[in-house]
Amino acid sequence: TEAGLILAIETSCDETSAAVIRGGKEILSNIVSSQIETHRLFGGVVPEIASRKHVEVITLIIEEALQEAGVRPDELSAVAVTQGPGLVGALLVGIVSGMSLAMALDIPLIGTHHIAGHIYANALVQELEYPCLALVVSGGHTELVLLEEEGVFRIIGRTRDDAVGEAYDKVARALHYPYPGGPHVDRTAAEAQTVIELPRSWLEPDSYDFSFSGLKSAVLAAINQANMKGLELDVPGLARGFQESVIDVVTGKAMRAAREHGVRQLLLCGGVAANRGLRARLTELCEAEGLPLLIPPHSLCTDNAAMIGAAAHLKWKRGQFDELDLKADPGLSL
Ligand code: KG4
Ligand code: ZN
Repeated sequence: TEAGLILAIETSCDETSAAVIRGGKEILSNIVSSQIETHRLFGGVVPEIASRKHVEVITLIIEEALQEAGVRPDELSAVAVTQGPGLVGALLVGIVSGMSLAMALDIPLIGTHHIAGHIYANALVQELEYPCLALVVSGGHTELVLLEEEGVFRIIGRTRDDAVGEAYDKVARALHYPYPGGPHVDRTAAEAQTVIELPRSWLEPDSYDFSFSGLKSAVLAAINQANMKGLELDVPGLARGFQESVIDVVTGKAMRAAREHGVRQLLLCGGVAANRGLRARLTELCEAEGLPLLIPPHSLCTDNAAMIGAAAHLKWKRGQFDELDLKADPGLSL
């Protein structure tokens, strides 16, 4: 069809998802099956188990996505899959499923970048205006991505060690919260009456890169010290101190980059975009500067196939299709 009816599949980590997207904007369905409960038993994502779980449910999830969308397979214009980055075995399940559908239906296959998906989740909500800047904060990524025009990505900053979500999860683990711990730290920080001051890692003055391992170590050191001295740990104060440090640096760098590049919109994307403290601070800073801030609803911030369909639509418009021997690429660059 003219508008392009894309079936999208996302299996890069621990969510099996399929969606049907029309015209790069309209979500006809977006089915997400999370494996979190399984991985929680191990305190994190176990790659082998993730692949096996994807295999178990992928066919059902795809069928459900088509059914909910009220779309017959022969009506589809293309099949989009996440090519990377992610867990190679997990990616493979989605890619092979997409490939076989593309082959059987004789329609194009579109390999898509996971981060392009997180960014274009915003296009499902609002028209993007260029140049814009995306602050991508998830369990696997922390990046500042400049888009001077549609579909052209330039990473101007990235983490040199842990991703923000990863740092949240490690801190949460040390505080004995279940996986994934980010939301627990967020909630605890919001209740804090005190703030334990922790370092801020700004790196070189002109750098848009990030580093969270020093901050994480400072939190672990504070916990150890309290344990050794037999003192009661101020958990909310520590959570608040950690969160304040993260938010100061992340929003500080994003706002400086937005100013330097004169962007028309700031896009917040990835699972950590759910963080209340981060949303509130960014909203405040953007309002003060008159910079439009886009944050997708929570269901489009965490891993889902609708965002992959939105990003794939850009390639579909340009006729950028992949061969049916598409390889999973765990380190795919944007
Ligand atoms: O984007 P996502 O669903 O998966 C990846 O692609 O990584 O992000 C998941 C990450 C986890 O690390 C989780 O702890 C974090 O997002 N997260 C949060 C919050 N909600 C989810 N971190 C801080 N505050 C939150 N409210
Ligand atoms: Zn993600």
